[in-house]
Amino acid sequence: MNILSIIEHKKNHHALTNEEIEFFIQGYVNGDIPDYQISALLMAIRLNGMTPEETFALTDAMIKSGDVVDLSSIDGFKVDKHSTGGVGDKVTLVVTPILAALGVPVAKFSGRGLGITGGTLDKLESIKGLRVELEMEEFIANVQHANIAVAGQTANIVPADKKLYALRDVTGTVDSIPLIAASIMSKKIASGADGIVLDVKYGNGAFMKTIEDAQQLGQAMEQIGEAFNRKMKIHYSDMNNPLGRFIGNKLEVVEAIDVLAGNVDKTSQDLIDTCVDVAVDMYNMATNNKPTARDEVLDVLRSGAAKEKLFEMIRLQGGDVNDTVMNDVAHKIAVVANKAGVVQSIDAQQIGEVSVALGAGRLTKESVLDFDAGIELVVKDGERVAAGDVLAYLYANNDIQEHIVAQALRAYNVQ
Ligand code: URA
Repeated sequence: MNILSIIEHKKNHHALTNEEIEFFIQGYVNGDIPDYQISALLMAIRLNGMTPEETFALTDAMIKSGDVVDLSSIDGFKVDKHSTGGVGDKVTLVVTPILAALGVPVAKFSGRGLGITGGTLDKLESIKGLRVELEMEEFIANVQHANIAVAGQTANIVPADKKLYALRDVTGTVDSIPLIAASIMSKKIASGADGIVLDVKYGNGAFMKTIEDAQQLGQAMEQIGEAFNRKMKIHYSDMNNPLGRFIGNKLEVVEAIDVLAGNVDKTSQDLIDTCVDVAVDMYNMATNNKPTARDEVLDVLRSGAAKEKLFEMIRLQGGDVNDTVMNDVAHKIAVVANKAGVVQSIDAQQIGEVSVALGAGRLTKESVLDFDAGIELVVKDGERVAAGDVLAYLYANNDIQEHIVAQALRAYNVQ
C-alpha cells in the first residue's frame, strides 16, 4: 500500500478500505506523508465524497491518532453539546449551567473562534482571571464538585484533526460533509461524553448554507455517533440572522447572563428558544425523556439556579464574577436606518465580518482580540423602523472606520 495508490483510488471514485484510511492518517500524523499528497487526497474526497463506512473508518483512525478522555470517575450520564458555529452563538454559556443546575454533569471541551464564528473559550476569557486551560485532574474535580467545567483541550486529543484542519483551511477542502463530520465527531467521541446534542446551523452565517446540506451533515454525524454507542440528538437552527442581540466576547457573556437571570427584554426570543430547546434535548437524553424535562429547564432558569451555576463555574476557574458586566469602551457608534420599513433580515455573514473588523474575532490564529468589541443589534429581524432610528451600536477600543459602519448598515435588509 502507498499513498499514491490511495489518491488514485479516491480520484477514480473507489471507496477506500479501513486499512488505506488508517495508513494515510497515521502516515500524515507521523510526518511520513507530505502535505501535498494529503492535499490531493483531501480534494479527491471533497469532490467524490465518502460512504458512511469510509466516514466511520476515518473518524476511528482520527480518534486513534491521540488520547481519549476518561470521564468514568464522574458519576452519572455525561452529556455534551456542540454547535457547528454561528454568529452570536452563546448557547453553550446558557445551556451548560442549566444542565449542571439540574444535576447532570457537563464536562465540556470548547474551542476558540476563527473567522466570523466566535468561540466559547474566548468569551469565557473575557471575564477577568478566568482560566480555560485546566489540567485534567482539575477539570474532572470541578465536574465532580459542581457538575460543570468548560475548558480547552489540554490532552493530546485528535492530533490528526489539528493537522488536517489546518491543511483543509488553505486548500479549499473545508466544505466537505464527510470531512466535517469526521472532524467534529472524532473530537466529540474522544472527549468522553455518553451523549451528544449537536446544534447544526444552516444559513448564510453558517458552513452549511441550506437546511438540506445541514440535514445531510447532521445525519452523517448521527450515524457516526451511534456507531460509537453514543446517544445522539440533532438540533437544526437557522443562522441566516445572528442569534440574539449581541455579538462580541464580553457582550455575549453579558447577554448569556441576562438570559440566565430572566432579563428577557435585554435579549431576543430566538436566543431563548434555541437555548431552551437544546437544554431540553440534553436533559431528555440524560433522563431518558423525563416528561417534566421542559418545565424543569424553565424552572432552573426562572429561579436563578442556572445563573448561580455559571457563577460557581466562573469562580472555580479563577474568574471574577463582578466582571460579568460591560466595561466602558472607547468607541460606541450608532448605525442609523436610512429608510423606514420592516427589517426582513440581518445578514449574519456581514455582521460576522463587521465583528471581526471591530476586533471581536480573529482573521488568523495569531490575531489579538478586543474583548469589549462587538455589535448590539438594537433592532432584530421582523421589527419595524423609521428612517433615523438606531438599528445597531458598534463597540470597539480602536477607531471604528466609516466603511465598517456602512457594512453594518448594508447587513440590514429593510423593506
Ligand atoms: N468544525 C470542526 O471542528 N471541523 C470542521 O471540519 C468544521 C467545523
